[in-house]
Formats: sequence, C-alpha cells, structure tokens
Amino acid sequence: MDQRPIGVFDSGLGGLTVVKELMAQLPNENIVYFGDTARLPYGTRSRETIIKYSMQCIRFLLTQNIKAVVIACNTASSMALDAVKEVFDIPIIGVVEPGAAAAVKATRNGKVGIIGTEATVQSGSYSRAIASINADIQTCSVACSLFVPIVEEGWSDTSIAYLTAEIYLEPLKEWGADTLILGCTHYPLLMNTISKVMGPDVTLVNPAVGTAHEVKRILKQRDMLNNSYKEPQYCYYLSDFSQRFKQIGSRFLNREIEYAGKVDIENY
Ligand code: DGL
Repeated sequence: MDQRPIGVFDSGLGGLTVVKELMAQLPNENIVYFGDTARLPYGTRSRETIIKYSMQCIRFLLTQNIKAVVIACNTASSMALDAVKEVFDIPIIGVVEPGAAAAVKATRNGKVGIIGTEATVQSGSYSRAIASINADIQTCSVACSLFVPIVEEGWSDTSIAYLTAEIYLEPLKEWGADTLILGCTHYPLLMNTISKVMGPDVTLVNPAVGTAHEVKRILKQRDMLNNSYKEPQYCYYLSDFSQRFKQIGSRFLNREIEYAGKVDIENY
C-alpha cells in the first residue's frame, strides 16, 4: 500500500478529462495535477521543446512526493514518453498506448481513425502503437486544430462545433473508419458533436478510460494502490493563473476545483 499521490500533468486544463477518469476508476487515490497553462499549447511545438517541457513538469511533480506520473497530454505522450522514461526512475504512463489498445479491441472492419493536435498526428504515435498490436489494422489521421479553442470557449455543442467537425471528419467518414480515437485531452467534450457527424455505428475511443485502467493495473502489480478509506486529496497547480481557470477547469472535470498555487516551471 502506498498513500503518496499520483502526479498528472498536461499542457493546460484539458488533462482534467484524464483526472476525471482516474477519480472514477481509482477513487482512493490522492492526485497532484500540474497544468502548464503558461506555455499552452504544446500541440504546435517541436519535439525538442515538448521533451524539455515534459521533463520540467515531471521534475516539479517529483517535488510533491508522487508515486507515479500520468502524462495526460496526448501531444506530450506522443513526443516525450520514451525520452522521459529513460531519465526518471518512477512509473510513467502515457495515454497513447492504452488508447491504441482500446481502439484495436473496438474495431470490426480494421479501419481506425485518429484525431489529435498537429504534433500528435505528425508523430505517428497512435498508428505505431496500433501496428505493434495488430499490423493488419489500417489507420488514417487528421489534425483538428480548431477543436481545442472551440472547447475552451464552451462551444462544444453548438453549430460552429458541428460545422467544424464536419469539415475535419468528412475524410475519415469517407474512408470508412468504424472506430475513432479522440487523441487529444479536449475532444471527449466534443463526443456528442463528433458522434452526430460520424454516425451511430462509429465507436469513439476516449484514451483516458484505458489509461486509468492501465494506471490501476501497474499500481496493483507493484502493490502501490492506496487502500486507505481517508477522503482523497486533490491539488491543482498551474504555471499561469487566469480567471478562466475555474470555469474551464470545472467544465473538464464536472466538479469544482481549488487552485493550489502557481509554479514557476522554468525553474525546474
Ligand atoms: N493537451 C493537448 C493534447 O492532448 C492539447 C492542447 C495543446 O495543444 O497543448 O494534445
């Protein structure tokens, strides 16, 4: 048994969709969240920068006495997971492999669509992870850059979101994907809109679900689950604070969030 918190980081507040899933599947665990809101977005940055930022986020989380790291950000998971695993001696779990595994299970026609940020799509991370499980599965990826600002604006269920989704997703529909990976922290909030565009026969995969499952599996295997009945503690740190934090944060998490403090992330 290990009562130390799980550390979670993301480029901003989107990673709270992963925290939501961790809370659901691991209700006893304490969580420390770091959102790199000062340097958001990661999705348009270079590999080098994303690796540097991810290292700094993990160094900060390590000051919080964490027992494992979850990289909630799809972009950072795609670009930096291998690099950070080489440096830090702590379990580090990204969202890509669990998301890919869930899609492989879900597909019936062997055609999996992937949507994410520019960096995630360019990295080819999901396609590689899928090929390593089943090389016969075909993949097709589309970067949907406007989805992040649409979600942050609170416009997920509007006609603007729908029209934008139609433009991005039409090629994937045409191609015949029967499964679609929502490869970005923000996209689960667009689930209704994306489902309307893709139709009821396309399975939407939220990688957060498989990620939380994987975190549970790894902690259990190492006897590191928190089995105490104490009320869990949740702490949210950010590298920049704005008034939108509470509003956007509670939208992602479906509950109120209390700001723990600002972190000067360049010092890590
Ligand atoms: N959190 C990022 C991701 O999941 C989206 C926002 C960004 O570009 O930083 O890829």
